[in-house]
Amino acid sequence: MSKISGATVRDDFNSINTVLHYTRAAHFIGLWKSELKLIEQYLPDKNAHLLEAGCGAGRVAVGLWHQGYRNVVAFDFAFELVEQAENLAKEQGISGLTFVQADATALRSCHIIYDKLFDGALFMFNGLMQIPGRENRRAALQGIAERCRAGAHFIFTSHDRDEPNARELKAWAKEKELWARGEQDPRLLEFGDRYFSDDTGNTFMHLPDRREILDDMAATGWEHVYDATRNELASETPKVRNFSDNCRFWVAKKR
Ligand SMILES: C[S@@+](CC[C@H](N)C(=O)[O-])C[C@H]1O[C@@H](n2cnc3c(N)ncnc32)[C@H](O)[C@@H]1O
Repeated sequence: MSKISGATVRDDFNSINTVLHYTRAAHFIGLWKSELKLIEQYLPDKNAHLLEAGCGAGRVAVGLWHQGYRNVVAFDFAFELVEQAENLAKEQGISGLTFVQADATALRSCHIIYDKLFDGALFMFNGLMQIPGRENRRAALQGIAERCRAGAHFIFTSHDRDEPNARELKAWAKEKELWARGEQDPRLLEFGDRYFSDDTGNTFMHLPDRREILDDMAATGWEHVYDATRNELASETPKVRNFSDNCRFWVAKKR
């Protein structure tokens, strides 16, 4: 059985149910309170040039526009989602957002992004953790760092393998035993990976521990500034909580 690759994840995000799921979120959910709180704190300049990675169907980019941000370039490697994001912007009469299809692990091949230097960046709702393979996640972190000026802030989220939740900790202990015996799902690349299916389609997700995130930031030109769970940051509406689990927000600064 072959390992999950970027192409697997891209195909999963281009599938009809997944596209519908993220399109609904872009139309009906918009920015989360927690996202807005950190955006206002770490990316306060409305004239800043911002890069949004893994924009999906435009939930965050369109939300940023409504907050007054006018210089946002948003990209995703799933073409069907980029098309939905463009449609949403058009529907709302927004003409100043740039949506482009690009792979976060290979930003050099996208000249619309590579010709610019950004004042800040975002990779919201765990998109970075949907990149299989630690070296590929590092390539994405490095590529985004290369496109940001020194001092630029970068906000992203991940799940939290260290979360003090007894059921999850027990599940990870069991998973560790499987890896030690070589009996894990053969499609997975690393301990911490999950690949599962539900009504919205297939999902690949890497769940990191704290050390991993801090080391990956340090190795790719980022300095850790702040982190907190979503629940610590804000009390989200039931609509947001139904759409997404708790996660950890990370804020990094380009060295
Ligand atoms: C969980 S979805 C979040 C979408 C959107 N940001 C939102 O919050 O509604 C993660 C997004 O990251 C994108 N993504 C994953 N790996 C990527 C990569 N290597 N390059 C670009 N986009 C990627 C997926 O296609 C997907 O749209």
